Amino acid sequence: MDSNLSSMIDLSPGPLPSSLQLTREGKLRHFLTIEGLSPLMLEEILDRAEQFVTLPNKNQSKAPLLRGKTVINLFFENSTRTRMTFELAAKRLSADLINLDINTSATSKGESLLDTIRNLEAMNVDMFIVRHQHSGAAHFIARYAAPHISVLNAGDGHHSHPTQAMLDMLTIRQHKGAFPPLKVAIVGDILHSRVARSQIHALTTLCAGEVRVIGPRTLMPVGVEAMGVNVFHDLYEGLEGVDVIIMLRLQKERMQNALLPSAHEYYKRYGLRKEALACAKPDAIVMHPGPSNRGVEIDSVVADGSQSVILQQVSNGIAVRMAVMSMVMSAQSGKLK
Ligand code: CP
Repeated sequence: MDSNLSSMIDLSPGPLPSSLQLTREGKLRHFLTIEGLSPLMLEEILDRAEQFVTLPNKNQSKAPLLRGKTVINLFFENSTRTRMTFELAAKRLSADLINLDINTSATSKGESLLDTIRNLEAMNVDMFIVRHQHSGAAHFIARYAAPHISVLNAGDGHHSHPTQAMLDMLTIRQHKGAFPPLKVAIVGDILHSRVARSQIHALTTLCAGEVRVIGPRTLMPVGVEAMGVNVFHDLYEGLEGVDVIIMLRLQKERMQNALLPSAHEYYKRYGLRKEALACAKPDAIVMHPGPSNRGVEIDSVVADGSQSVILQQVSNGIAVRMAVMSMVMSAQSGKLK
C-alpha cells in the first residue's frame, strides 16, 4: 500500500458515505463532517453538550465516561482554542490525553501519516483528534484506523471543522432559541474557510430561516449558492436585519495568489465596525471562531462590545467536545458488546 500522504488523501473529499461516520445503528462513530448528519443527530449533540456546560468560576467535576480510554491529540497545524478545549474535554471525561508534538515527532524524519497512525495504534489508543492542513486527512485516518478507534476532525484544510460549527450552533441556540426564524450572516473569507462550510451545513440542516454569505468575489467559492445560501458582496446590504453575524479570519496562509488589494482596503469594505453592526437587528449577536485579526476583519470596539459572544463560543467548545467524545465512545462500546 502506498503510504505517501499526498497520494492517499483525496484533496476534495466531497460527500462522505455516512457508513464511515455512523455505526450500522446510526450512532456517531467518528465525527468528520456535518454533511450528511440528520437534524436529530445535531440536536442530540447540542442537548448533550448543554448538560456539560458549566458556569464560569465554578469547580469542574469530572465525569467517568472516558475512564480508562486514551486519546491522542494529533495537530499538524497550530491551534489554541481547539487543541486546549479538546484536552480539557478529555480530562473532564476522565480520559488519558497525550499531545503528539508534530515538530519533534518522527514526522520530521519523513515518517508517513499512515505509519504514524499504525505506531500510535500499537500503543493501545482509543481516539485520535486530528487537525491537518490537507482536506480529507481525518477521513483518511478514519478509513485506515483500527475498528475500535474513533477519529474526531479538529479541522482539515479548507474542508471541515465540525466541532467548531457545533459550538457555534450551541452559542446561537443559547441566545436565540429555535433556528427557523433566524437570519444568519457569515462574513469574510468564505473561500478558504472550513468553519464556514461546516456552519453552512449545520445551519441548513437545523433549518435556519436564511443563511447569507458576505465577502469579496475573490474570496467567494464558485457555486456556493448551491449550498442553500444567499450571496452578498456589500457588507451593509448583507447585514440588514440579521440576528447573528459570524465574522471569519482572512486565511492568508491558504491564499495562493494576491486575492485582496490590501488588509486596509479589506477592513474598509468588510471589517465589522459599529456603523455596519447597526444594520443588523439591535439584539444581533457577534461571533468569531478565532483567532481574530483586530483591525482587519473586526474592530476591537465590536469584538469586545456588549453584542459579542466570542468568548462564550470558546467556553462552549469544551462542552461540545465532551458531548462528541462521549457519543463516539458510547457508540464504540455498543458496537463491541
Ligand atoms: N477556532 C479555531 O479553530 O481556533 P484555533 O485555531 O485556535 O484552534
